[in-house]
Amino acid sequence: MRKKIVAGNWKMHTTPDEGLTLARQVMETAHANEHREVIFFAPFVHLTTLQKEVSVSPFFSVGAQNCSNHEKGAFTGEVAAFMLRSIDVSWVLVGHSERRQYYHENHTILKQKVDQALSQQLLVMFCCGETLDQRMEGNFREVIRKQLEESLFHLDATQMNQVAIAYEPVWAIGTGQTATPDQAQEVHAFIRELIKQKYGDGVAARVRIVYGGSVKPDNAKDLFNKPDIDGGLVGGASLNALDFVTIIHAAE
Ligand code: 13P
Repeated sequence: MRKKIVAGNWKMHTTPDEGLTLARQVMETAHANEHREVIFFAPFVHLTTLQKEVSVSPFFSVGAQNCSNHEKGAFTGEVAAFMLRSIDVSWVLVGHSERRQYYHENHTILKQKVDQALSQQLLVMFCCGETLDQRMEGNFREVIRKQLEESLFHLDATQMNQVAIAYEPVWAIGTGQTATPDQAQEVHAFIRELIKQKYGDGVAARVRIVYGGSVKPDNAKDLFNKPDIDGGLVGGASLNALDFVTIIHAAE
């Protein structure tokens, strides 16, 4: 049985103090459950303090929203995977559509980021998903296949066990327009099938595939009940402790 993941992506919101308060509220209110884990993907300047706070609980962990595609060196403004490792951050988000769109992160850069993260024993949550145009044109399966093949499928099976996948249809992010549970399930099953073809049954059965895009307290349960949806990557609703806790409790 796959352990569910409910992850909050705070994006570029909250000061470190506000983030700490939010995480405390969530940790105090959410019921512990060994069948799920909760991740806070916080801005870089939060991570040191947040990690210390969160590390007391086995059910919660901290992730960065990005890392450099380079190991180290003259890359002003970048944060390297080894720096994240040094403060015991567990996860790093790679390939979020906002990074692809606004910072022009292409398949090659994302592949390098995946490699940097794994070389520092960070767990990777790799995001994929199609735009509205790509869905309308009907070739979204090819888009997702390419995203996975170009940036992830060079990994071996052992490395692949360090990866979770977030399916985030771009048209559903921050729009209030959620993919229906059936629409999401169809893509999740497709992604699992791709992994099965590449890595075999064992890896495919183990890999967690979470859904992101306007996950809210009132739609989380229907999404998370689908057989191939192993939890959620939550943006807006993760900034409200009560909403986020309701979403966490939806993952049973
Ligand atoms: P929203 O939940 O605000 O749609 O954001 C989804 C997302 O991008 C999570 O990474």
